[in-house]
Amino acid sequence: MEKIKSGITGLDEIMGGGIPRNQLVLVTGTSGTGKTTISTQFIHEGATKYGENGVYLSFEEPDYLIKENVKQYGWDLDRLEKEGKFSFIKYDPFHIEDVFEILQSTIKQVGARRVVVDSISALGLHVKDDAELRRTIFNLSVILRKMKCTSILVSEIVSGSGEGKLSRYGVEEFVADSVIVLYYERSHSAFVRAIQAWKVRGSAHSEKIHPYKIGNTGVIVYPHEEAFIER
Ligand SMILES: Nc1ncnc2c1ncn2[C@@H]1O[C@H](COP(=O)(O)OP(=O)(O)OP(=O)(O)O)[C@@H](O)[C@H]1O
Ligand SMILES: [Mg+2]
Repeated sequence: MEKIKSGITGLDEIMGGGIPRNQLVLVTGTSGTGKTTISTQFIHEGATKYGENGVYLSFEEPDYLIKENVKQYGWDLDRLEKEGKFSFIKYDPFHIEDVFEILQSTIKQVGARRVVVDSISALGLHVKDDAELRRTIFNLSVILRKMKCTSILVSEIVSGSGEGKLSRYGVEEFVADSVIVLYYERSHSAFVRAIQAWKVRGSAHSEKIHPYKIGNTGVIVYPHEEAFIER
């Protein structure tokens, strides 16, 4: 199976050598763990280092906030957009039914090989009915596979929702081929950031929980270290 480089230092190593091409990765964790940062890094590094253009569909933060925020890591998304290597989809919540069509045409237009949807939890704010929401998430996964994109779907874990719950609605992990879980948990008197490859379809991967940091170059995972968190 072909693997691509995520662009996140250390992440490929815990995933058994990279992200399987054309597959879907769920990146999940509680609020503020770094899901948007990891996702933006995947897109930025893809477009600047690996010749893979990207599309970012955000149901949460508006584009200017994400762009402003990631400037501190030296990522200039405006420039990538001008160079035609990247597109940020400005989502209109009143036209949810159009969003997948816009996604498909944007992927074609940019020639994107990498896509981020941040987050599918926020889809639930716009699609009220549970069955409809499941169908929507499933349809999204079908589109991304058909378009031959390697994609990150962001999901949220509601804190205190109990051990073993990987996503907001409990369906996200089933449409995804791989699941990466981010933790921000207590260890003695401080909080630590930790990351785990929960599943990687068709590949051996690390079964440990590893520390990661958000620093001035973005996210760095430490594949040779173990994190100790109180759960
Ligand atoms: N320069 C920095 N150095 C270290 N940590 C930073 C820096 N900038 C931001 N952070 C950390 O990144 C976190 C936010 O990351 P991000 O927005 O990617 O998380 P998220 O999981 O997408 O959050 P949300 O659930 O709100 O969408 C902040 O809570 C902060 O702790
Ligand atoms: Mg976010």
